[in-house]
Amino acid sequence: MTIEQEDTIGFEQRCIEPNCGLSYSITDPIYVCPTCGGLLDIAWAELSNHDALTLSVLWRERLTGSDPRDRSGVWRFREVLPFESDVAAISLNEGNTPLYDAPRSASYCEIDGLRLKHQGANPTGSFKDTGMTVAVTQAHILGAKLVACASTGNTAASLAAYAARADIPCAIMVPTGQISHAKLAQALDYGARVLEIEGNFDSCMRDIRELSRDGSIYLVNSINPFRIEGQKTVAFELAEQLGWQVPDHLVLPGGNLGNSSAFGKGFRELLALGLIKRMPRISVVQAEGAAPFAKYFDEYSASTGTSFIDEADPQTLASAIKIGAPVSWKKAWRAVHETEGYVLTVSEQEIADAKAIIGREGIGCEPASATTVAGIAKMRVNGQIKRDDSVVAVLTGNVLKDTDYVNKYHTNSLETESKRRLFGTYANPPVAVAGGHDELRRVLTELTER
Ligand code: F0G
Repeated sequence: MTIEQEDTIGFEQRCIEPNCGLSYSITDPIYVCPTCGGLLDIAWAELSNHDALTLSVLWRERLTGSDPRDRSGVWRFREVLPFESDVAAISLNEGNTPLYDAPRSASYCEIDGLRLKHQGANPTGSFKDTGMTVAVTQAHILGAKLVACASTGNTAASLAAYAARADIPCAIMVPTGQISHAKLAQALDYGARVLEIEGNFDSCMRDIRELSRDGSIYLVNSINPFRIEGQKTVAFELAEQLGWQVPDHLVLPGGNLGNSSAFGKGFRELLALGLIKRMPRISVVQAEGAAPFAKYFDEYSASTGTSFIDEADPQTLASAIKIGAPVSWKKAWRAVHETEGYVLTVSEQEIADAKAIIGREGIGCEPASATTVAGIAKMRVNGQIKRDDSVVAVLTGNVLKDTDYVNKYHTNSLETESKRRLFGTYANPPVAVAGGHDELRRVLTELTER
């Protein structure tokens, strides 16, 4: 790889392991610490040198700026990204996603108010784009000959799109038959080489990490700290949307645990910059059958010194988070632990019903995203969230990402992997109308009489 980027911008890669903490240049194409194998953070020497007010004014002004990077909700915050100020970003105008009021979801959770930060409004329909624009920009700077990832579908779709924009060959590894048709279709359309592997996401992840060790592939899974840098800007955007106030609770789904890590880092930096006064509690929700992080949380709460145990055979219809060996769990743990958040599980039925409620807001999301609303309802019952707490849930993917699931739910034919039928509690099946105008009129009139 040709290294063009200079090391003069005050950022470095630093091992997060407390008894290692070694630093490396941001141009080293490494994903974990070469010395101890620990995860890497992008560390920023000059964080406290910035003036918070100046930054907040600059970032807001850029919303109407003429630089193409100003129209990206990631690159608008470029002072907090590890690049030279004239960086040529590989961007699809990602970010700047809506923060919706969600009264139906709030009353479903029995809380006064709930806001939904919809990352499914990104260019490829998921939150991955905010991280991918940064990781692929770094790949471009490093002169990568091939970018690759393992994926449950969304990372694949996102990488395929950004690699196409950067004109870098791209390979994605997915577990055969286990990712949604829509996500696979996106990756194919954007021109990625799709490698279908027998096994699950975790085995794909192990394979691609092994293959990237010789430097021939630039790996862009969230183990790559540049992905986390992009995704952390969502915390900046959210805090800005809330007038630099933070909610009491931020709730998000957990799979490979990159996103919770990124929110933790984002809020930590906002606090260090003086843009916010406290951090929200960051809570992570997993599907019951794919919940190694929730198990760790429960066991840690019961006794310290417990070790993290991967889930060998994760199961959930929320295929995006069907993950048993999350690579970023230590970073996500830091976020949950330091903010006194929770990690919990929700059932397949709870996910399906919460998803239908979010749909009825006119918003919609993919199944993995609905773990948030299901989790908030559960945390309310457990007393972990109070009725008048301010709560933001992060919706990670668009409703069109998994239409098979949606259609099955609404036609009462959704079954778990062990063939257990789920109830279409809020099902809205299509109505077959035979018998011409009179019958049609009767059905339409019924609609106005509710
Ligand atoms: N929600 C959606 C829609 C996802 O696609 C993912 C992860 C998550 C939540 C979990 O986020 O991994 O940062 O904890 N999808 C990855 C993929 C693994 O390959 O698309 P996480």
